[in-house]
Amino acid sequence: MNIKTITIAAVLFATACTPKSGMDKYIDDLMSRMTLEQKIGQLNLHSAPGFISAERVTEEDENAKLLRQGLLGGIYGSGNPELLRQCQEIALESGAGIPLIFGMDVIHGHETVFPVPLALSTSWNPSLVERMARISAKEAAATGINWVFSPMVDICRDARWGRIVEGGGEDPYLGGELAKAYIYGYQGHDTNYDTDEVLACVKHYALYGGALAGRDYNSVFLSRQEAMNGYMAPYKAAAEAGAASYMSSFNEFEGIPASMNRWLMQDVLRDSWGFDGFIVSDATAIAEEVNHGIGDLQEVSALSLQAGLDMDMNSDGYIGTLKKSLEEGSISEADINRACRRILEAKWKLGLFEDPFRYLDDARHASSVYTDENRAAAREIAHECQVLLKNNGVLPLSKDARIAVVGPLAQDPMAMTGTWAMSSHARESVTLWQGISEVAKASYAEGSWLYKDAALEDAVRYGLYKAFVPGFQAPPVHITPQSALIAEAVAKARQADVVVACVGEIPNMNGEGASRTDIGLSDAQKELLAALKATGKPVVMVLVTGRPLTLVEEDARMDAILNVWSPGSEGGRAVADVLFGDVNPSAKLTTTFPRSVGQLPLYYNHKNTGRPHPDDAPYKKFVSCYIDEINAPLYPFGYGLSYTTFEYGPVTLSSAEMPLDGSVTASVTVTNTGDRDGDEIVQLYIHDVYATSTRPVKELKGFQKVHIAAGQSVQVDFTLTAEDLSFYNHDLEWVCEPGDFEIMIGSSSRDVQGTMLRVQ
Ligand code: NOJ
Repeated sequence: MNIKTITIAAVLFATACTPKSGMDKYIDDLMSRMTLEQKIGQLNLHSAPGFISAERVTEEDENAKLLRQGLLGGIYGSGNPELLRQCQEIALESGAGIPLIFGMDVIHGHETVFPVPLALSTSWNPSLVERMARISAKEAAATGINWVFSPMVDICRDARWGRIVEGGGEDPYLGGELAKAYIYGYQGHDTNYDTDEVLACVKHYALYGGALAGRDYNSVFLSRQEAMNGYMAPYKAAAEAGAASYMSSFNEFEGIPASMNRWLMQDVLRDSWGFDGFIVSDATAIAEEVNHGIGDLQEVSALSLQAGLDMDMNSDGYIGTLKKSLEEGSISEADINRACRRILEAKWKLGLFEDPFRYLDDARHASSVYTDENRAAAREIAHECQVLLKNNGVLPLSKDARIAVVGPLAQDPMAMTGTWAMSSHARESVTLWQGISEVAKASYAEGSWLYKDAALEDAVRYGLYKAFVPGFQAPPVHITPQSALIAEAVAKARQADVVVACVGEIPNMNGEGASRTDIGLSDAQKELLAALKATGKPVVMVLVTGRPLTLVEEDARMDAILNVWSPGSEGGRAVADVLFGDVNPSAKLTTTFPRSVGQLPLYYNHKNTGRPHPDDAPYKKFVSCYIDEINAPLYPFGYGLSYTTFEYGPVTLSSAEMPLDGSVTASVTVTNTGDRDGDEIVQLYIHDVYATSTRPVKELKGFQKVHIAAGQSVQVDFTLTAEDLSFYNHDLEWVCEPGDFEIMIGSSSRDVQGTMLRVQ
């Protein structure tokens, strides 16, 4: 059968059998005709034949063999529309002829890439995140993909964890607002899926960001109460926004791996939050439950299914063992039917039974991805995601200045692209060098190695390729001596008016499987910065990173530090726009930057302890502090500078008392006291003074990004109700306990002014 005949057949089948409504009836009928093997096949998710790079489906490919047997419910990892079309044709001709869903790690863009998620969160702008997700969905859908493995909403308080880059930072309230924005961007605001909308997959459910010591995949030890108060809000917000699917995480919680954790998946997600979509495991997570020490593959597969995990990604636990478990009586057919139905429902909602090729339109692909329009959006979005950490007045730069652009990341397109950009035109991302040299007189020098240890540099640069590309031959590192690289950079610096040093992390230094114990700049890059500083020229450090770093030395020595994260396809130009003052930076941190790795985990919404010690005070015996470091972070949550300055007036309340069923308005006047227009992110925090359980010293409960013209003032109002003052008590009840609350408003979690509110 050729493509056309299959399409026509599918449409005829749909017209005959698919009523416009009546999903249940349709699926009842379909399932009554499916064999047990075919039902279990729907629960099976594999990588696409040949994964990422394959052009065609080959005979030998193991995934293709499963496909031909009708034993796959979906595939993921290919951004090649032609390959996806072939897979769909095969699926329709095999087994029960059920269309596949096509998943993909579309994390911060598809072919056009936007700033990495942690960077996006520093915009504190949900509509910006929604816009990014909307464009990503359009590009992905035009490629044939109808299911994206995003948003990643794991709260993380420990910068050693490389995957902190994939999420929205450390705060549950902000994380929740951003989670909703991602869902609306990918799926739209209603329950229909247009052909440019896709299923979202909220991950990693749950608490993956609590990995002990920041080591990836590590155990999570949190109480239920702390989990609910500190970590779960973004997962919940996503469910409320209508997220279609969730991905279970690798970690354990309370001694039970998350992928077989009934409390997480059934009690909380489905029963309490009302989620009615399907849950897929993370890749090989079911098989990893064997390593967790729960049982063999058959046992853990049965337990996972019964706990509410519907789809198995890459473990072959379901496909390989469920039939046997059914025969032996450890699971029931109802367990399989329930999971199968949820997956078929998702396909039905996507309209795949009406038209399995609905998302596969070659013409649309050619005209929709990596367009000038999308790249322009990438540049605009990146403007709002750069955090100015320090500025002694050297920024913004004059376009007439002679600029030495140096550093191992300055001409590296991958540094702009960032982690998880599988379908992107990564090597075409605009570098910082390109962005600057397009608008100013500039010279370039690489300046340094990444690490002084060649073996380490090789492992960091090429570890990913060695893991995925059979026979990969890594090019040698350290070809030019470090001393020669530095000498060249110093020579260029001497001839320039100002140095822009682009240093930090290449993408392989953050993301999955990229935990670090030393989160400072690497030794080789530090050496470069010291040499540049010694020239006496002003040095602007452009920081590329996917995590908070320890930057005490750099903060003391550099003239300015602009943290641009990995800013995406148009990164170099977007950064140049900020460096030259065409755009005034406005982003603020969503993760605490520690002074020392020894302070981790470090987060603004911590508890007080019985022996608190002021953040900036030196060591003192018998209070909660360190001998060799103060408690304060280097840059606190919510911090970020602008080229202008803002002043906050006193915080006022519409009433100093609030009944439990009432509301109050908290207001502040913010004045732009500089000579440039600017955007300010105004933050509202609360502190519950006495409660039946200990409460954080501060909790973010509101934020607004306001544009204020130079010399002008604006009044910013926040409405508070009991909902904003509630928390999960010891019995996990969501309560607002009457009493005194401090209401604080300011420009960061450190710089606030407060007033008292009495709730009764
Ligand atoms: C493993 C990662 O943990 C997850 O985030 C990703 O979506 C899957 N692999 C699929 O690539």
